[in-house]
Amino acid sequence: MLLEIRDIHVHYGKIAALKGVSVEVGAGEIVTLIGANGAGKTTTLKTISGLRPLSSGSIVFDGADISRTPGHKRVLAGIGQAPEGRGIFPGMSVEENLLMGAYARKGDFSAELKEAYELFPRLGERKGQAGGTMSGGEQQMLAIGRALMAKPKVLLLDEPSMGLAPKLVQQIFSIIQEINRRGTTVLLVEQNAQQALQIAHRAYVLETGRVVKAAPAAELLDDPEVRAAYLGGDLGEAAAGVDDDASR
Ligand SMILES: Nc1ncnc2c1ncn2[C@@H]1O[C@H](COP(=O)(O)OP(=O)(O)O)[C@@H](O)[C@H]1O
Ligand SMILES: [Mg+2]
Repeated sequence: MLLEIRDIHVHYGKIAALKGVSVEVGAGEIVTLIGANGAGKTTTLKTISGLRPLSSGSIVFDGADISRTPGHKRVLAGIGQAPEGRGIFPGMSVEENLLMGAYARKGDFSAELKEAYELFPRLGERKGQAGGTMSGGEQQMLAIGRALMAKPKVLLLDEPSMGLAPKLVQQIFSIIQEINRRGTTVLLVEQNAQQALQIAHRAYVLETGRVVKAAPAAELLDDPEVRAAYLGGDLGEAAAGVDDDASR
């Protein structure tokens, strides 16, 4: 496994946000973490990237225990995150924002920039535009592009589809698939369970700080409990096969 989260407990003060979460992500996979608001999805990602300390449990990445490794060293080790709410630098240009993603590395970043502009042509068209004046969808693309600049082995995405128009949601999910196809492992947190399950290989369902289900994503799409709780309870849409990706 590239990333192993083993029985982690995480607190905010006295409040337990994660009560023994275990998640595994294999190299090359897209794994998704779904669950309602407050389930602990963001906390799980923040703990992996080192923004929240563990109360107990451990995190192993690429064969090394990183439970106590500072966040910037985790970035260098290959953990990239596009944070919830995007967190781009509004006063910096698109290109400057992208280059910030590579700050921890030295050298020439033209190849990475080229790849970011290939994945997100819109960013290429707007290199010089201030990040803060980009639309919500473009800022989301910028946040993902910036995370990719660090050449992560695993990309952590926190609700990349949040607040986007349906057409853009579609686009973001297909870009995530493309990023994965090009070799980056993805851990995707989503409230948009339907679409997340359609592109993921495996999935975990989080409820109030605990994993309540872990299974191949396709299985969860057909799971009556998951359908009732997270997919609007309607069997129609998924059964009709909205997923047109035959590559999985
Ligand atoms: N900064 C914080 N201070 C106190 N409690 C928090 C904080 N952030 C999150 N929590 C609590 O931790 C739990 C998990 O939150 P979160 O990881 O943000 O869930 P999700 O991303 O699944 O919506 C929730 O009960 C939430 O209220
Ligand atoms: Mg969240």
